[in-house]
Amino acid sequence: MKFKTTKYHFDLLNDYDRLASFFEAINDYGGLTNVAYDLGCGSGILSYFLSSYFDEVLALEINSSASKCAKENLADFGNVNVINEDVLNHNFEKKADLIVCEMMDTALIDEEQVPVLNHARRFLKEDGTIIPKGIINSCELVNMQREYIHWDECAVYESYSDSVIYSEFDFSDEINPDFETELHIKANKDGTVNGLKITTFTKLNDNIICGPTPMLNPPLLIPIEEQHVKSKDLINVKLKYIMGNGIESIKTDILW
Ligand SMILES: C[S@@+](CC[C@H](N)C(=O)[O-])C[C@H]1O[C@@H](n2cnc3c(N)ncnc32)[C@H](O)[C@@H]1O
Repeated sequence: MKFKTTKYHFDLLNDYDRLASFFEAINDYGGLTNVAYDLGCGSGILSYFLSSYFDEVLALEINSSASKCAKENLADFGNVNVINEDVLNHNFEKKADLIVCEMMDTALIDEEQVPVLNHARRFLKEDGTIIPKGIINSCELVNMQREYIHWDECAVYESYSDSVIYSEFDFSDEINPDFETELHIKANKDGTVNGLKITTFTKLNDNIICGPTPMLNPPLLIPIEEQHVKSKDLINVKLKYIMGNGIESIKTDILW
């Protein structure tokens, strides 16, 4: 099947690892059931996967060009209803057996996964399921070339520590978007550290974990105050951000 898309959603469609992980998780869920929501449906690709398994698929998309594409792409699927609306304003009339929400980005900072799920979770049946199930965040010390926050696609940096898991979220729980933690990370060589690299792993379900892909949580590099370190030095950093409020909400402080 050919999909009409915007440029951004075309890149999402071409990220096969991202797509395969969602495809497999939806297949694993399987069975013919009642109602699924596809929140932030974009071109409608995940609704297309869901349409084989559900009596009704409600696909919501805030972007009018993308939702127009999704409507055209899914016009022949009588069980899929595409609506151009902000999920946060939508009046859900039926509870869902499954919510699929791919508004993911590294550590959930730059997209609306957390506020959207905090809103939509109230309309999930008690025994309902959310795909993805959650995320795991890890962090390492780096020496990075650029002096501003950026995603890793082609970034140049040198690692100065192991990657340490610092937070995990299960999407079935209400999540406080205000995140704050103290990181204590041991340098593994001598040199200069001036940044943190955050890596997010997506748990699609109990059996599928997807690491970063170009369009699903590419690693995020965050500058910190420059420090000369010796191997085995412990670097202590306070890291704060608001999930859903963008990378401008990220704050770091070295704890001396
Ligand atoms: C990462 S894309 C995923 C698109 C599609 N589900 C896919 O997997 O290819 C996230 C989509 O969520 C939409 N979105 C973001 N915030 C939204 C909101 N509050 N309500 C509805 N859609 C939203 C964006 O416009 C974007 O199309």
